[in-house]
Amino acid sequence: MAMKSKTVYVCTQCGCQLPKWQGRCPDCGEWNSIVQEELQVSPASANRRSAAVTMEAQPLSAITADEGQRLKTGIAEFDRVLGGGIVPGSVVLLCGDPGIGKSTILLQVCHHLSQQNKVLYVSGEESLRQIKLRANRLNINGDDLLLSAATDAASIVESIKALQPDLVVIDSIQTMNLQEISSSPGSVTQVRECTQQFIAAAKGAGVPIFLVGHVNKDGGIAGPKVLEHMVDTVLYFEGDRNLSYRILRAIKNRYGSTNEIGVFEMEAVGLAEVENPSKMLLEGRPEGVSGTCVVSLMEGTRPILAEVQALVAKSALNAPRRVTTGFDFNRTNLLIAVLEKRAGFRFGTLDAYVNVAGGLHIDEPAADLAVALALISNLVDKPLPADAVAFGELGLTGEIRGVSQPQQRVSEAYRLGLRTFILPSQCLNAVKESDFPDAKFYAVRNLSQALRLFRGASGGEE
Ligand code: TYD
Ligand code: MG
Repeated sequence: MAMKSKTVYVCTQCGCQLPKWQGRCPDCGEWNSIVQEELQVSPASANRRSAAVTMEAQPLSAITADEGQRLKTGIAEFDRVLGGGIVPGSVVLLCGDPGIGKSTILLQVCHHLSQQNKVLYVSGEESLRQIKLRANRLNINGDDLLLSAATDAASIVESIKALQPDLVVIDSIQTMNLQEISSSPGSVTQVRECTQQFIAAAKGAGVPIFLVGHVNKDGGIAGPKVLEHMVDTVLYFEGDRNLSYRILRAIKNRYGSTNEIGVFEMEAVGLAEVENPSKMLLEGRPEGVSGTCVVSLMEGTRPILAEVQALVAKSALNAPRRVTTGFDFNRTNLLIAVLEKRAGFRFGTLDAYVNVAGGLHIDEPAADLAVALALISNLVDKPLPADAVAFGELGLTGEIRGVSQPQQRVSEAYRLGLRTFILPSQCLNAVKESDFPDAKFYAVRNLSQALRLFRGASGGEE
């Protein structure tokens, strides 16, 4: 059969196909992510399509699937994010920025599993020597952990069939290639076709496969977004490279919930589980001190907690200082203006500092309420309840506006042990209170209702 080929323009971030080049992807809005690619219908994939067999159907009750079949990795945080272990035949995409620790955690997972199972780790990025050096650093050794430095997807699939391992790791999908496709490794076509091959191998042999996907904004390499719809589970490994903690989150999971997070700490000997994430996230947060408030944010579809701190002090300058770290400077000025005008507080002779602890950067209006509460708390020198979390947008008239996904924001904070919720009243309607026993909800419509939390505070009007 003759090989057909046509030129298309593909977005490397979302995989959207266009007939001509554009500066901005009309689908995902990313700039400069469209690249030209040769799209081919290879004889191999055409054959696959024409192999028609009669479909079999079974009654649901006749199919057995018990939780006992899941492979436990031995790393509790990792298992929890997966929904209780690795499901045989599943394909998991682990995404994250370069250098965040994807190879490290997967090597650790392989090590734990290889004590009882046969594990194959295929690296297209590092040589065997480099992997060995990393393994030495992690104190990993073993006969049942098979390593291979390969990039040819077809031969890897054949090896999977021959070796019959219990787990396969492909590090990373962007380095894999299929010879019958002319585009370079990392292109949308290559990445998709290789993934398709690995998915077929996983389902066929019942072997779970982990694919590593780099998140990058570099136009030439396909991002993991183009694969998200194909795989069973998508995990994101995130964190600030300058800070030691890392958060593992499922954003898609066919075999479990996506609300669970796993928290790790990068140490000299690899990633260590953090058993009490709330303790770590709110680490160093002194209780009973004014000027701090926890906020529940959404990062895309993912909730995350941050601690907002504020310090208000007498200024020695004519024009008082406003300093912000991790929060928008102009937004801080706006919030201070609203607090002055609508709640009667005076900041005119005071310096105000706002800081987001832990090096996070907040650009969501949902943090307004927490910033305002932290500022007032410090101004009147009254602490908020130690288990309080606030979210909501502050409008110019002093109204507290609803924000998206209150249920997720509340459940994240609840999971991390916080029990007092200060939230916009329209958000409370969208929160299923029965999911959160022993939680206290303060629904607020405007600034003065929110400031009742500091009842008796001097300077404010109710
Ligand atoms: P790596 O797993 O190579 O990242 P990725 O595969 O996501 O690109 O991790 C790289 C970083 O982790 C590197 O900057 C060094 C650090 N690291 C440690 O701090 N301790 C360790 O034991 C290891 C193996 C790596
Ligand atoms: Mg790596």
